Amino acid sequence: MAGRVDALYFFLVSVTIFFSVLIASLEIYFAIKYRRRSKEEYAEPIEGSMKLELVWIIIPFVLSMVMFAWGASVYFALYRPPQNALEIYVVAKQWMWKFQHLDGQREINELHVPVHQKIKLIMATEDVIHSFYVPAFRVKADVVPGRYTTAWFEGIKPGRYHLFCAEYCGTNHSAMGGWVEVMEPTDYQAWMSGGATGTSFAALGQKLFRDLACNTCHRSDATGRGPVLEGLFGRTVTLQGGGTVKADEVYIRESVLNPRAKVVAGFEPIMPTFQGLASEEQLLQLIAYIRSIGPSQGQAAAMGTPAEEGSQGSGVVKPKPPGAKPLSAAPGSEKP
Ligand code: CUA
Repeated sequence: MAGRVDALYFFLVSVTIFFSVLIASLEIYFAIKYRRRSKEEYAEPIEGSMKLELVWIIIPFVLSMVMFAWGASVYFALYRPPQNALEIYVVAKQWMWKFQHLDGQREINELHVPVHQKIKLIMATEDVIHSFYVPAFRVKADVVPGRYTTAWFEGIKPGRYHLFCAEYCGTNHSAMGGWVEVMEPTDYQAWMSGGATGTSFAALGQKLFRDLACNTCHRSDATGRGPVLEGLFGRTVTLQGGGTVKADEVYIRESVLNPRAKVVAGFEPIMPTFQGLASEEQLLQLIAYIRSIGPSQGQAAAMGTPAEEGSQGSGVVKPKPPGAKPLSAAPGSEKP
């Protein structure tokens, strides 16, 4: 994105310089040319000029519309992560950046990514607002308590790039930084296999799922009091009252912390909140687990590359008719 951001920026600067110089020069020139030459000289009224009016309406209008359209297109490209991106979870806390690759690698203040690979960051914070900022990539995104924010980038040249926190967050804010290391694919593979941590994020989530006793209600065989979570991730869920929602990170997080916000059709709002019982990092572990038992299981596990979202969203989790047996969520069995 750096080239696109810079081009727009230089355009804005050029337009600003051009008009600043033009206006300042004309002011000086006119001040001299039309200065009062004698005491008897008086200003004369000037008739309006339609031509002049039109010129200074139309030119700024066209220029500002160009800025608007150009700026909007860069903005949309920057803030809409592409579908085929490699997803990495980020947890910010005073004062460090924690990175979690889906297949288990964990890092602090260092992020290793392969070159020419779009990377999508799903970010949360344990405490205050931080801001993920890599100037070389022209990427800056706030990480806000209580929600997930995203950012994406693609390294096009191997190297180490400075990472900063760009939101004042306390005593060691200035030291809250690190490096993004963009690597050749072979180096990246070597790095991935080198520092294996043994336990994947999803496995930690699975353990947590049992520790928090989620599995007493969310059973895999549709006999539980809660919806089956196998095959859920990425699908569209029908809610009580008729709405639908896509089962993504945001929805799952909300359902854990505020279960009554969006109740799946056919179920009772009996789930207690887990607010305060799971940290943001643990919530991401739970999500990684639910994701790992989702429809994209095979692909996601194979390479750490999440399946494209488009391929997951085709199935719709249908509501359970009133009085019927609990929803069976075996993937494939609910295709309309
Ligand atoms: Cu984190 Cu400043």
